[in-house]
Amino acid sequence: MNKGLLIALEGPDGSGKSTQIELLEKYFVDKGIEVIRTREPGGTKISEKIRAVILDNDNQEMDNMCEALLYAAARAQLIKEVIKPAIAEGKVVLCDRFVYSSIVYQGIARDLGIDTVKSINDCALGGLEADLVFMISIPYDKGIGRKKNQRELDRLENVGMDFHKKVFEGYSKISSIYDKIELINGDDSIENIHRNIVNRVESYIEHK
Ligand code: ADP
Ligand code: TYD
Repeated sequence: MNKGLLIALEGPDGSGKSTQIELLEKYFVDKGIEVIRTREPGGTKISEKIRAVILDNDNQEMDNMCEALLYAAARAQLIKEVIKPAIAEGKVVLCDRFVYSSIVYQGIARDLGIDTVKSINDCALGGLEADLVFMISIPYDKGIGRKKNQRELDRLENVGMDFHKKVFEGYSKISSIYDKIELINGDDSIENIHRNIVNRVESYIEHK
């Protein structure tokens, strides 16, 4: 078991992960608990550079395997530099996306296969596992619609609705494969979703 607590939020683009991470961070800070927030791809100097390459609208020719390896490379750096040390110090780490994003986006939506993507990522994870994984579920067109209202779409968000539908179906699929994934209804008010997540976090900590 991890000394600290690693909580990952997963879900399609626009499902509300960043919004919920911000609220969850405040929840822990208010309790006087040290918390670190990361995002994927990114979270370190090197990983943010990899993020810029992946999301660049100019890189339309990027090969699917190249993309999968870049996500795993960014993740490996983040884990080594930030996540593992924080967990070892007993801190709470909140991850805006984790390995399940690669399994869904690269493994299922890009058709590389779950096993292939999992094995690439086993190298990146170096044995690290999340304690809690919340998957915010939302109809695929609703999530991307929210994003469009928020800002200009990046290379991945611009791929078309068929891809977003595959992502949505991919998340549904993996939530039935991995027991660890806890489904959260994202088609609700921000406050209700937050309360739902906090209830589950408190129940986990109580039984840890
Ligand atoms: P993600 O990190 O999953 O892409 P965000 O948290 O950035 O999603 O949310 C995308 C947009 O949707 C933001 O403009 C945010 O304010 C809005 N939003 C988030 N949660 C909800 C919600 N439950 N209901 C309505 N709008 C929401
Ligand atoms: P980001 O803007 O961080 O996500 P969101 O749109 O949810 O706020 O963009 C990250 C993009 O990268 C998003 O489209 C999902 C994708 N992604 C993968 O395809 N594989 C991965 O392993 C990760 C972490 C993200």
